[in-house]
Amino acid sequence: MRAIVVGDGPMGSAVASALRDRGDGVTLLGRPAGTHPPARFGGADVVFEFSRGDAVLPNVAAALAGGCRAFVVGTTAWTVDRAEIAAILSQHGAAAVVSANFSPGVNLLGRLVEAASAMFGALPAYDPYVVEWHRRGKADRPSGTALELGRRILDAHPAKRRLADGSRDGPPAPDELEVVGVRAGSSPGMHLVGFDAPGETIELRLTARDRSAYALGAIAAADWLLRAPRRPGIHAFDAVVDELLRTAEVRAPRTGTPRPGNPDTPAPMRAITVDQPTALRTTGGPR
Ligand SMILES: NC(=O)c1ccc[n+]([C@@H]2O[C@H](COP(=O)([O-])OP(=O)(O)OC[C@H]3O[C@@H](n4cnc5c(N)ncnc54)[C@H](OP(=O)(O)O)[C@@H]3O)[C@@H](O)[C@H]2O)c1
Repeated sequence: MRAIVVGDGPMGSAVASALRDRGDGVTLLGRPAGTHPPARFGGADVVFEFSRGDAVLPNVAAALAGGCRAFVVGTTAWTVDRAEIAAILSQHGAAAVVSANFSPGVNLLGRLVEAASAMFGALPAYDPYVVEWHRRGKADRPSGTALELGRRILDAHPAKRRLADGSRDGPPAPDELEVVGVRAGSSPGMHLVGFDAPGETIELRLTARDRSAYALGAIAAADWLLRAPRRPGIHAFDAVVDELLRTAEVRAPRTGTPRPGNPDTPAPMRAITVDQPTALRTTGGPR
């Protein structure tokens, strides 16, 4: 594919580098003086948007004017412009996969969190909470992923109705969900959902070691967009992950068992095909 990656920070650079490793053509764009000229997007099959929340609307508008019709938007903190972006995508017959987190593992964690929230929600003693930790320089807080995990808890938990207002003194109200962010060091992302009761704590935690899982999922989203005509507008990443689950070959690790006649050659890997999507409930649909 011919891709343009908008945003030359750590995340945009990780996507560009993963695309180059696969042999795709990539142009990486940093902050322009003013706005990007539409002609800069001419000939691109897909635009990856990983810049800043306030730049998403002008960047998508410029790329649409330049003729691009497929977008993967990973930038966070642009909720205020979401309706307008959805409208201009539809007007141009363009489709975007949008996610605050393109890690397939985080997507599956979200589904586990929904299931866990429904289960622990039946037990009032188990109080849910979300903690995220990112590098000191990350612009937004809490992270888009933490807010998405919070949304999934609010959807599934019978007693939690809203996120706690962190600016207010005193303990959160019973129907409020605590979501807190730590900004220190160089962590590429840690998200933890806990359920705390007087006698025990249950934790679901995902720690990113680098940005490769985000890049992998973002590129899978672009492949999904280009594989078949998609409805104009915004698509959730769940559809991409569902397709990955249906088609993935989960490979067993090499056993290292020597084969007769060739003691240095490990046994071939066994391929296990996953035929069915996850049994866990998915919320699906655009958000
Ligand atoms: N969905 C996911 O899986 C995922 C994963 C990680 C991060 N993210 C999100 O992706 C975004 C980028 O992450 P990051 O860690 O790379 O952030 P970052 O360190 O803030 O880098 C953003 C880069 O984009 C540049 N930029 C600003 N406006 C631009 C424009 N109009 N066109 C092109 N580039 C522009 C910035 O330049 P200046 O420094 O001059 O402003 C900066 O170099 C953030 O919103 C982050 O939350 C998403």
